[in-house]
Amino acid sequence: MFILELLESKRGQHISGEDIARRLNISRNSVWKAMKDLEKDGYRIDAATNKGYSLCEDNDIVSVQGILPFLSKKELSNNIHVYESLQSTNKTAKERAVSGAEHGTVIIADCQTEGKGRYGRKFYSPPGHGLYMSLILRPERIWFATPTLITAFAAVSVCESIEAITEKAPQIKWVNDIYLNGLKVCGILTEAVTDLESGNIQWIVAGIGLNVSTPDFPKELNTIAGAVFASVNPSATRNRFAAEIINRMVTPEYQYGNHEMLDQYKKRLMMLGDKVLICSPQGEYTAVAVDIDETGRLIVKKDDGEIAALSSGEISVSPKLS
Ligand code: BTN
Repeated sequence: MFILELLESKRGQHISGEDIARRLNISRNSVWKAMKDLEKDGYRIDAATNKGYSLCEDNDIVSVQGILPFLSKKELSNNIHVYESLQSTNKTAKERAVSGAEHGTVIIADCQTEGKGRYGRKFYSPPGHGLYMSLILRPERIWFATPTLITAFAAVSVCESIEAITEKAPQIKWVNDIYLNGLKVCGILTEAVTDLESGNIQWIVAGIGLNVSTPDFPKELNTIAGAVFASVNPSATRNRFAAEIINRMVTPEYQYGNHEMLDQYKKRLMMLGDKVLICSPQGEYTAVAVDIDETGRLIVKKDDGEIAALSSGEISVSPKLS
């Protein structure tokens, strides 16, 4: 066990230097040095005479040791890799997948210098506030709809995690955005790699960007982007969100497309039953959003009564403003 793991498992409570030294089989002086190193890394440690050391509750530094206490299966931590900064966790995850990283490998960064959104957009990823995380998934049975269904599954997993940790009720905007109080708090970018010879998908990277506390958003994002909390919440750290999402996503593959998952997705879907504006490469039209089919497509009823099934591709759907 590492010192940080011990402190994280008793966050907010003091542990005496003697107790730490005994549990980790190190000297009192090494304990003191380790605390100084943690402080240098940005951790706030309370050192009180006669009480010992305590990791202050408002620390929100992402680490494997911080995620560990919240993991349902502790062995999942062996495949979690946390970095201070990456260009994009999806990029690193794809490189790892090419070199054979196994199902359930997770790449997390405190910040991204080239965070990627859909349609080649940038995803604002400053340090200290967001959870930027990519999961490598290698389902045994992959069919053409798997990437879309994994995106839906990731959206459900993030919503359930927010609901488990807070009192809030997130909503999903088809296909992959999560909203709270009308502001986007999470985006999901799923990328699949196909074997050129067989045409089969080999593995999938599900990238999740969740704003946990509010950063200084640039002006252009101020009215559209939000966060789960205004500031750091001691009982709902990024580590806790990471663990809740991993607990849900690294599961047997049947979850990726089963009816229960789709029902959970639909339950939180915005605009179902509403008139929406659809922008496709062929032009704009209005329709009523009716359902989600078993491959994750949005079923709409056009004004002339025709039913259409929309795949995520280049189509965007927004509320019809009358
Ligand atoms: C979108 O809203 O268009 C999707 C945003 C996805 C952002 C996440 S952050 C972690 C992962 N790494 C990336 O570069 N992108 C995804």
